[in-house]
Amino acid sequence: MEKMIDLRSDTVTKPTPAMRRAMAEAEVGDDVYGEDPTVNLLQERAAGIFGKEAALFVPTGSMGNQIAVKLHTKQGDEVIIEERGHIFNYEMGTPAVVSGVMIRPVRAAEASGMLTWSEIEPAIHVNQPYYACPTGLICLENSHNFGGGSVMSAAQTDEICNSAHKLNIPVHLDGARIFNSAVAQNETVANLSRSVDSVQFCLSKGLGAPVGSMLLGTKDFINEARVWRKRFGGGMRQAGILAAAGLIALEESPQRLHIDHENAKRLAEGVAGLKGVSIDAEKVVTNIVLFDITKTGKTSAEICAALKEHDIHAIPFGKEIRMVTHCDVSQAEIEKTLKSLAKIL
Ligand SMILES: Cc1ncc(COP(=O)(O)O)c(C=O)c1O
Repeated sequence: MEKMIDLRSDTVTKPTPAMRRAMAEAEVGDDVYGEDPTVNLLQERAAGIFGKEAALFVPTGSMGNQIAVKLHTKQGDEVIIEERGHIFNYEMGTPAVVSGVMIRPVRAAEASGMLTWSEIEPAIHVNQPYYACPTGLICLENSHNFGGGSVMSAAQTDEICNSAHKLNIPVHLDGARIFNSAVAQNETVANLSRSVDSVQFCLSKGLGAPVGSMLLGTKDFINEARVWRKRFGGGMRQAGILAAAGLIALEESPQRLHIDHENAKRLAEGVAGLKGVSIDAEKVVTNIVLFDITKTGKTSAEICAALKEHDIHAIPFGKEIRMVTHCDVSQAEIEKTLKSLAKIL
């Protein structure tokens, strides 16, 4: 049987042989007591790389984001986020369920989904007692998944944070793919997150670890986050087995992300040449390729079903199809995908 080319997400990556070895040999302890040496090492390394006071290993990106929403807000607050943001659309309504907050989605004018302060400011409520929900938090996403893996610069992030902080509004960064953003901009993750109050990033996406994300912020914030991780059911015991893979992901994987970006660019340029497909290939700078198929005369579901018969997995999202490159997809497989798409269309 031919290998399935899985472009649904970078979450599908399998741990490398080095990760599996490290997992087998990991020193472990009970992390609920803070006694797992490998988890502690991962947390120290992550905090060092991001230039933040402290870090917490959490099972998922969603948990990291939702702990941050919980800690930064109080019931009845509003959270401003770009309309296509993950925290708003794909985390099961947890801000409402767990934190009792309202989401105030704001559509960025740019297709990239990158908000500017001039777009955020009119949505903010401060000092409007008796009718408006106060703005408790602003959430950013870098890279922006449904903005097509678009990136926000350190200067853009600083501008939003500086303005928000003047109003005493904290900013959380969903940096699930912040390493992709950093590589694309030849920037450091520390600079991209230097002005935010908290940041979450995923080890289990482009970095290739099987499980896990990190939440970072001040020591006080992370101490509180530890309590909420337990409440959410995320207190894992001998989690060093997972952290061992995470350490390799953190220290080695960023060096190869440019390959995924080159593959995504090639894919974007290829699909841009197909009849009825609409995408601005120039805007594809990380590992996500989102293209509009409205004018092909087929639905995205039909195209994805046909791709599956060619052993290619992609996800239909309304009038768009998303393909994500990662370490388990080769350049040759990108060429095969393009040939199959051309045949289908
Ligand atoms: C931008 C973004 N944030 C957060 C998450 C959540 O990560 P997890 O699947 O680990 O909960 C994802 C997952 O795809 C994501 O794309």
